[in-house]
Amino acid sequence: MAGNALDALPADEARTRLVDQLRANGWITSPAVEAAFRRVPRHLFAPADVSIDAAYTDDVVITKRRRDGRATSSISAPWLQATMLHAACLQPGARVLEIGSGGYNAALIAEVVGPHGTVTSIDIDPDVTAHARAALDTAGYPHVQAVTADAVDGWPGAAPYDAIIVTVEASDLPPAWLDQLTPTGVLIAPLRIRGMTRCLTLRRHEDHLVATAALQCGFVPMQGDGHTPTRRLALRGDDVVLILDDTTTDVHPEALTSALHTPRLDTWSPVTITMQDGSSFESLHLWLASQPRPFGTLAVNRERAAGLVDPQDRFVCPTLLTTDSLAYLAMRKLDDTTWQFGAHGFGPDASTLTTDMLQLITVWNHDHRHGPGPHITVHPTGTEPHASDRPQLLVARRHATIAVTWPAPGKPR
Ligand SMILES: C[S@@+](CC[C@H](N)C(=O)[O-])C[C@H]1O[C@@H](n2cnc3c(N)ncnc32)[C@H](O)[C@@H]1O
Repeated sequence: MAGNALDALPADEARTRLVDQLRANGWITSPAVEAAFRRVPRHLFAPADVSIDAAYTDDVVITKRRRDGRATSSISAPWLQATMLHAACLQPGARVLEIGSGGYNAALIAEVVGPHGTVTSIDIDPDVTAHARAALDTAGYPHVQAVTADAVDGWPGAAPYDAIIVTVEASDLPPAWLDQLTPTGVLIAPLRIRGMTRCLTLRRHEDHLVATAALQCGFVPMQGDGHTPTRRLALRGDDVVLILDDTTTDVHPEALTSALHTPRLDTWSPVTITMQDGSSFESLHLWLASQPRPFGTLAVNRERAAGLVDPQDRFVCPTLLTTDSLAYLAMRKLDDTTWQFGAHGFGPDASTLTTDMLQLITVWNHDHRHGPGPHITVHPTGTEPHASDRPQLLVARRHATIAVTWPAPGKPR
């Protein structure tokens, strides 16, 4: 392969550096996954104008965008691919379906399952599968199947699968995925739960699926028949967009837009976080989303909205709502290592909403911050969560209901 003018390091050296870093950061924890990352040449799957340096950075490489600039396809970040590979516990000889293609991750899977395994990689976009096919052939993986189809029907041609690894944001579990999974198979799927995407490791239990792990992540949304759109309300053009991921939350967009022209109410919680606490903070978003009340998330252009809306998270910021008011999760730096949580509110109910947000932060800090996180189950339509589980949040989709149950304080999950 010809060198790229932007290349600073030869590809092999850049790959070694990346894998060493993934190991050091704890993302690669098994010899099989490490060997796969050391072998598969990621740069061969990236667009031609991506430098070797960028191809071997622990980050997403966008491979296709819509006209409006939003990404529709990418090579996922290596840390996330490694985590999903570990979660799938793939054994040599396993049969695997990858949903959402590009080639690179399919090649990693092929390395792990070895010559007796099978890998089928499916994508709705023929450009993506054409690129994946060419790159897989060039990189030495002609045996990996790349097919073009809407994955809402799975791919019966190579079923049943020991693992189905979904690499696109899903909001539902189409029946075909379960039908094509072996009884003991594992389904890894980034599921959108009230605007929060969690990569769930799902295994069958009686008539439903139980998540044994839930990792915060982001993926491009699913297209085709399985697409469940969110409602996106531009409150200040693209600078401040409110995203609603349920059908029950009722807001008046004009009233919320007007609210942004009123003074902001800033309130601060005694709850703080230090750099070392990073991992324990992940459950706060899902805790806020689990409350039985109007809820959305804000996506904010930090630079253009600075001083008006300064969210804790610029892509997915938890927001409590009434029809004409909102309060979002905020954060400010107290010193070099310590950050403080807070709530910023707008509109007539700003005071109530910010107070509620601070109370919820307090409860999370006391009862859930250091605990195991919520119990997440997925119930195919026709089956119900156990009444005794008393889930705080039920997300009913077309084919399945997602249930999120927080453990009672002091009790294990
Ligand atoms: C993040 S990319 C996949 C990354 C890839 N697994 C890799 O090697 O890193 C997500 C892909 O899902 C595809 N996709 C979206 N909706 C789909 C659907 N309904 N069926 C199959 N593929 C879909 C997109 O075209 C996109 O290429």
